[in-house]
Amino acid sequence: MTAKPKATHRFYNHSSESMPEIKSDSIALTVTSPPYWNAIDYDRHANDNGESWYRSREYGEGFVGYDEYLDLMQRIFTEVLRVTKPGGFCAVVIGTVLMKGKHYPVPFDFTGRMQEAGWDFHQDIIWHKTTAGVKRAGVTIQKPYPGYYYPNIMTEYILIFRKPGPAIYKDANGHKEESRFEIDRLFTMDTANNIWHIAPVPPRTIDHPCPFPEEIPYRLIRMYSYVGDEVLDPFLGSGQTSKVAVALGRKARGFDTLQEYLDLSERRVKEALKIRPKQLIARFEKIDLGADLSTSHRSPASIQPLLDLSAD
Ligand SMILES: C[S@@+](CC[C@H](N)C(=O)[O-])C[C@H]1O[C@@H](n2cnc3c(N)ncnc32)[C@H](O)[C@@H]1O
Repeated sequence: MTAKPKATHRFYNHSSESMPEIKSDSIALTVTSPPYWNAIDYDRHANDNGESWYRSREYGEGFVGYDEYLDLMQRIFTEVLRVTKPGGFCAVVIGTVLMKGKHYPVPFDFTGRMQEAGWDFHQDIIWHKTTAGVKRAGVTIQKPYPGYYYPNIMTEYILIFRKPGPAIYKDANGHKEESRFEIDRLFTMDTANNIWHIAPVPPRTIDHPCPFPEEIPYRLIRMYSYVGDEVLDPFLGSGQTSKVAVALGRKARGFDTLQEYLDLSERRVKEALKIRPKQLIARFEKIDLGADLSTSHRSPASIQPLLDLSAD
């Protein structure tokens, strides 16, 4: 009798603090974005008419302390470590949080907790959102004096951690050639660098407050897992990771505390990928700083060294 093939995807409706359905050392790759600390009330979104959750991450109301949030993340990613194959990877999309005038360095504190849990830090990738961000520079433009510099926040981090163990290319499950990815212009101009330029999902296209674009799991799954591998998302949301994983011949496993998001993911996992045919790359332009400086109110003595330096 032949063994029953494993389902392409399985979703579970409970907290990922404990994932008894997943065997130890079985997951090749996790691609996920944890709930934002204090910023989005997922329960409210799932129960209302879908309008009130389009809130800026800036205006979250406190309901759990920052340390409690980090403790919860550490518990969940300790469990993710258990289920991950030795040598396997975990990619976490996570940003800083602004709340009540304070800027919280969540990705940096989170990295410390991951290392405490037993993960090795492997890589930081900056997701440049290109068309979206938290606009703050208006303050600086109105008050161009030292101490008023608040740059717009255009980025989140894609932090890659690795479970200690053998290199994954030593066990390609017989799928090495099938898993080869193309080195195209997008790769050499963008993916090859650790700043990725990817526009966010346009508002109101997916019924979830914060899906990441398919392009993120699409790049990560092809570079950190082989065809046939199991890919986990412990915070399933709208199912972006699972949808891409299944389309790329991997098996998806996902957890969410809200049944609505399991139902949404179940519907979406069967849909065709929506990788945008037009992708973004950064082009650099030289601007004439000299002209600007000569009309500035600064004394020529203070600008001269700057100009000399740039001429070297
Ligand atoms: C930032 S969203 C994930 C979005 C997802 N990456 C996507 O592209 O759609 C976080 C999700 O985690 C879920 N969640 C929150 N706490 C959880 C927990 N303890 N266990 C599992 N899921 C949880 C929320 O319901 C929410 O859907």
